[in-house]
Amino acid sequence: LLFPVILAGGKGERFWPLSRKDRPKQFLSLDGSSRSLLQATADRLIELGGGWDSLWVITSSQIAEGVRQQLPDLPVENLLIESEGRDTAAAVAWTSLKIKQRYGEDAIIGFFPADHWIANQEAFAHTLSAATQLAASTAAIVTLGIKPTFPSTGYGYIEQGEKIGSFNELPAYHVNRFTEKPDRETAETFLSTARFSWNSGMFVFRAGVVLKELHTHAPEIIEPLEQHGPDIYPQLPKKSIDYALMEKTTLAYVLPVDFGWDDLGDWNAIERLLKTEENPNVELATHVGLDTQGAIIYASNPEDVVVTIGLEDVVIVRDRNVTLVVKKERTQEIKQILKILQSDS
Ligand code: GDD
Ligand code: MG
Repeated sequence: LLFPVILAGGKGERFWPLSRKDRPKQFLSLDGSSRSLLQATADRLIELGGGWDSLWVITSSQIAEGVRQQLPDLPVENLLIESEGRDTAAAVAWTSLKIKQRYGEDAIIGFFPADHWIANQEAFAHTLSAATQLAASTAAIVTLGIKPTFPSTGYGYIEQGEKIGSFNELPAYHVNRFTEKPDRETAETFLSTARFSWNSGMFVFRAGVVLKELHTHAPEIIEPLEQHGPDIYPQLPKKSIDYALMEKTTLAYVLPVDFGWDDLGDWNAIERLLKTEENPNVELATHVGLDTQGAIIYASNPEDVVVTIGLEDVVIVRDRNVTLVVKKERTQEIKQILKILQSDS
């Protein structure tokens, strides 16, 4: 049995202005379906067989109420609310402590980002049962490796080492090295050999194993939490699990996976999901275009009409009082703009 935990405390700033403080990315449906990213993630994890009682969610106090509304079947005691986001290392540490308290140190935990798109549920379930078997039989921090398609600087990279066996017919490998968000040049060298995969951001391990590893590699996070409980949260260092643990542990294993995966990180992901051969643009709005191609166009109000002439490779988003127009290759910089705007983003 696996206890899945959804990491749902991120802001998803690169989807602004659709994502706002009161409406972060995980509350949005980005593929045109009726379920939000958070709900789709929960549905996918419930289908693994443990039901709502097995599912946990950790999120920040600002959006906890929204999470309750979106997931009314989640037991209240399985929702952990961070007074302030301290990134994913603290979130993993606190949740793992709680699950160990309730179910013991052999409880198997899986962490799942709230903002992923997964194509093949059956293959996803098959992979997770393999990961669960591996975590049950070995003191392992199990990662799921995605075949990389371009030298992204936004992902973690996993270098595959020796094969250690097969689980549920899937080969598992020791991890030689984990590198979080390398620079472009390093990412290109990684891609030039077949040994690297992208870190999917999903992790599976036993509660006791991860807590022991946190004690070794991130005592500044786990010790205060153990001693003082979540009241200490605002004083914890802000670090992601990738830097705090994955780059350091020697217990990492990787299952190369193939279930159709995308990290819905910014507007360009919408194009990867929704682009068709017939349409030169991705249109989530009433769009009248002359000589326009490679555009991603979104309007919240179906009555709005977006008119473009002679544009190429741009993102245009209209939502409430904001209109955003940005070149596709510069959507990462939305984060910087938000710092400048600061006020009510
Ligand atoms: N509870 C909580 N608290 N959740 C958080 C917090 C926090 O303070 N910060 C982020 N999260 C959630 C986000 O909502 C998201 O679902 C997940 O944790 C991962 O955070 P991101 O901020 O999206 O991480 P990333 O995309 O930069 O990098 C991670 O994911 C990549 C794959 O998508 C890393 O694990 C990379 O190595 C990986 O390649
Ligand atoms: Mg992400």
